[in-house]
Amino acid sequence: MLKIVFAADDLPGQNALVLTVADKKKLGEQGAKLDKKLNGAIKRAMEASHFTGAKEQTLTILAPAKTRLSRLVLVGIGDVTMVDASLFARVGGAAVAALGGKDAQAVLLVDRFKGSALTAAEAAAQAGLGARLRSYRFDKYHTKLKPDQKSALRTLTIASRAGTAAKAAYAPLDKIADGVFLTRDLVTEPANVIYPETLMQAARTLAELGVKVDVLDAKQMKKLGMGALLGVAQGSVNPPYLVAMQWLGDPSAKDKAPVCFVGKGVTFDTGGISIKPAAGMEEMKFDMAGAGAVIGALKALAGRKAKANVVGIVGLVENMPSGTAQRPGDVVTTASGQTVEVINTDAEGRLVLADALWYAQETFKPRCIIDLATLTGAIIIALAQEHAGLFSNDDKLSDQLTKAGLGVEETLWRFPLGTAYDKMINSPIADMKNVGERGAGSITAAQFLQRFIKKGTPWAHLDIAGTAWQSKDKPLSAKGATAFGVRLLDRFVADNFESQ
Ligand code: BES
Ligand code: MN
Ligand code: ZN
Repeated sequence: MLKIVFAADDLPGQNALVLTVADKKKLGEQGAKLDKKLNGAIKRAMEASHFTGAKEQTLTILAPAKTRLSRLVLVGIGDVTMVDASLFARVGGAAVAALGGKDAQAVLLVDRFKGSALTAAEAAAQAGLGARLRSYRFDKYHTKLKPDQKSALRTLTIASRAGTAAKAAYAPLDKIADGVFLTRDLVTEPANVIYPETLMQAARTLAELGVKVDVLDAKQMKKLGMGALLGVAQGSVNPPYLVAMQWLGDPSAKDKAPVCFVGKGVTFDTGGISIKPAAGMEEMKFDMAGAGAVIGALKALAGRKAKANVVGIVGLVENMPSGTAQRPGDVVTTASGQTVEVINTDAEGRLVLADALWYAQETFKPRCIIDLATLTGAIIIALAQEHAGLFSNDDKLSDQLTKAGLGVEETLWRFPLGTAYDKMINSPIADMKNVGERGAGSITAAQFLQRFIKKGTPWAHLDIAGTAWQSKDKPLSAKGATAFGVRLLDRFVADNFESQ
């Protein structure tokens, strides 16, 4: 695991150095000093390449003469008057990627520039966060990796004019990264390792941080009438669980209703009897990414002792075909009392969420409720892997989430809801069916969820099917599980619900 430490902005004599450069090849104070010492080698290297100092650009100079540095990496920050927190997070990520894991020790020097739009402490802390997020690896199942296939990087020192004072700004960010890493681990683990029981146990570990964790088993859910969630679970030998995690970080607001997050935790989605094609089915281990994000967000909030009251609820099931599996055409009764005709057993996430959302409202009377789910393939058709879909009955909540998403670069795009779409899920035999017509598959899925939201409860649904798992490296995550939602939910709480 990569350790992030903070220090004054002195030039190191050895190992690897990453140096920030502004646009138009502008060097900062320490950069200019180093260039002088190297007889202008940095400037010449920039001239000899396409490197201009534009945002996140990198240029590596190996074994520069007159130093004992193994490499000098230049990383661009663009226009110094335009920099913001997320730019420095991306710079930290770009630094780790460019270092390539050869050195055990490296320094990222966040250099001094006149007119910088961000404090040195904030810039250094964000660079530390970005570096740590980008350093995540999941290679526990590789038993034959050669040293050059592993990252040797152990310590990254963020050197800036803020010196060790940046440590205080970084401390809460480190806890957020802990939440992100837990989520990435849970989402990446295969479905023979993470199934409802083991995912429930992972949620239970948050008790160490002061989170109150309550678990419902199948028998208790049956008593509560959760026929929709149990119908999905009945085809699997792995029993389902529903977990409620309460972080009460603001005791002064004790009677005030909590913010509630609800996650889809389908630990593997075969489609059930409406079985999915074989090609790519292995990806469906990430169908618990909504639950994973909720667990990680609670870990982040509890880890940094957020002064807010937040409840996370996850519905954990495995969707399998078998002799006991539910059939297309089955009618199930949900905890709300409403009935559902199960047209397609592969539209299982909404069935799980129907009962989890109802339970959340009945038990916690939340001030608002946000669900996260890898709910539809259709959201990938609409938005690819660039935004998550946002569906809401409340403009204010919708704006708060959109803003939080922009702040952490987990961006949302809002879709419409309305009676015309709602009608599409009417059933001839029950109150509703679990799929609509061909069109607007992500919207009809959201309409289905909305039928389980009580009047007057602000609610938002985030369809993260496209964003939870990336096929390409991104600035803050190598390809694979992103933990999309963890930083967004943390920021949403910090911006709107935390007392100082
Ligand atoms: N878990 C899937 C959605 C999904 C697809 C997530 C691809 C991530 C990547 C969900 O349970 C599902 O199967 N949805 C169906 C709904 C359909 C049967 C109405 C879909 O999107 O095809
Ligand atoms: Mn499915
Ligand atoms: Zn699914």
